[in-house]
Amino acid sequence: MKGFHIVVLLSSAVLLVSAAPALQLVTCTAESGAAAARLAMHRINENHRHGYKFKLQEIQGNKVEKKNDGCNLELQLNLQETVCHVVNPKHFEECQIRGEGERAVTANCTVKMSVKNTDANVTKYECDTRQVKTNLDVPVLVPLNSTEGLKSVNEAVSKFNLNATNKHHYILKEVGRIRLGSGKDYYAEFALVETHCPMGSRINPEACKPLCPDRAHHAFCKSTYLNATGLQSVECEFYPPSNTTALGPGEQEPAMAIHPVPVALPTMVAMAILPLKAVADLPLDAYCLPVVAVAILPMLAEAPLPTEVMAINFVPVALLTMVAMAILPV
Ligand SMILES: *[C@@H]1O[C@H](CO)[C@@H](O)[C@H](O)[C@H]1NC(C)=O
Ligand SMILES: *[C@@H]1O[C@H](CO)[C@@H](O)[C@H](O)[C@H]1NC(C)=O
Ligand SMILES: *[C@@H]1O[C@H](CO)[C@@H](O)[C@H](O)[C@H]1NC(C)=O
Ligand SMILES: *[C@@H]1O[C@H](CO)[C@@H](O)[C@H](O)[C@H]1NC(C)=O
Ligand SMILES: *[C@@H]1O[C@H](CO)[C@@H](O)[C@H](O)[C@H]1NC(C)=O
Ligand SMILES: *[C@@H]1O[C@H](CO)[C@@H](O)[C@H](O)[C@H]1NC(C)=O
Repeated sequence: MKGFHIVVLLSSAVLLVSAAPALQLVTCTAESGAAAARLAMHRINENHRHGYKFKLQEIQGNKVEKKNDGCNLELQLNLQETVCHVVNPKHFEECQIRGEGERAVTANCTVKMSVKNTDANVTKYECDTRQVKTNLDVPVLVPLNSTEGLKSVNEAVSKFNLNATNKHHYILKEVGRIRLGSGKDYYAEFALVETHCPMGSRINPEACKPLCPDRAHHAFCKSTYLNATGLQSVECEFYPPSNTTALGPGEQEPAMAIHPVPVALPTMVAMAILPLKAVADLPLDAYCLPVVAVAILPMLAEAPLPTEVMAINFVPVALLTMVAMAILPV
């Protein structure tokens, strides 16, 4: 898999609410490039619902086109993949950039912004994503639908679910990356989400629905599977839910109305490729009926679906997913 080249372009019309408090004011001067780039990174990561968070590496270009009531900006940004999966609540600016030895992904993005008075919006971005070239002799990435790779993940998930400390059964949310070492050893990274099935219940795990994203614990795990000896280790980080409000008397824990999570192999493949389909990436909360949907659905109806343009030469699914990641629609 050495030396392959991928070009994936996705573009999305991004309609976003304007600046978060901690961000500096974006103006129509060339000096404002750093503030604009930082705002762009916030928006890109906010839209990003799969794979890993990205961090700004370098501003490669900054064009200002003045208009009578403000300006349009066009930034060329180079982004680097971090080690924080999107389920990790850590702010992307605090995440470590992935090292060369891990076959990191880099994204070269063109970001368009519109600025009026004190108001700046990201209107569009397109990224060209590729794997950083390395001369190190380190494990290569395999497609996320690799049968052997997924076998290692499934075993790791089963092992995870033997942990009696967990209150509920967890299911796979997404496979982040699978590296293949010499001797057919698999090193996988994947995200899990808590379901409504109590640990040890006799419900068939395939019927377990994930809790709503804001109410679920998530875990991010790394597993090692050696060809010679099978599953060696599964190490996970746990992330608490963002909404810990206690349920009212008689209130049921809300769960996802639609099961977006791959359990069986064929679905998992679909999941890996899913983000490339425009409609597939509605905010997860939209599925979380009835709690959040009421607020979100009208917004979805108004927001135009993103258009995606792809030019793919040869794309291992692993990268495909990360790309889609970089670019996500509202
Ligand atoms: C990023 O893309 C721009 C425009 O396509 C190009 O000029 C620049 O050289 C690219 N940078 C890298 C690091 O590929
Ligand atoms: C930014 O987006 C908001 C909400 O869509 C809109 O009201 C505002 O006019 C936009 N600002 C600019 C400078 O485009
Ligand atoms: C993985 O996906 C690619 C592209 O969709 C497909 O060509 C390949 O056959 C799949 N491999 C497996 C093992 O399913
Ligand atoms: C079991 O799960 C708990 C959280 O529920 C976690 O703190 C602990 O590290 C896990 N133990 C193992 C061996 O993974
Ligand atoms: C994987 O293990 C099997 C036996 O368990 C062995 O025959 C095979 O050569 C191993 N593959 C590699 C690439 O080491
Ligand atoms: C937190 O979850 C509860 C139970 O689903 C819900 O009623 C409440 O609206 C949520 N709070 C926020 C801020 O979303």
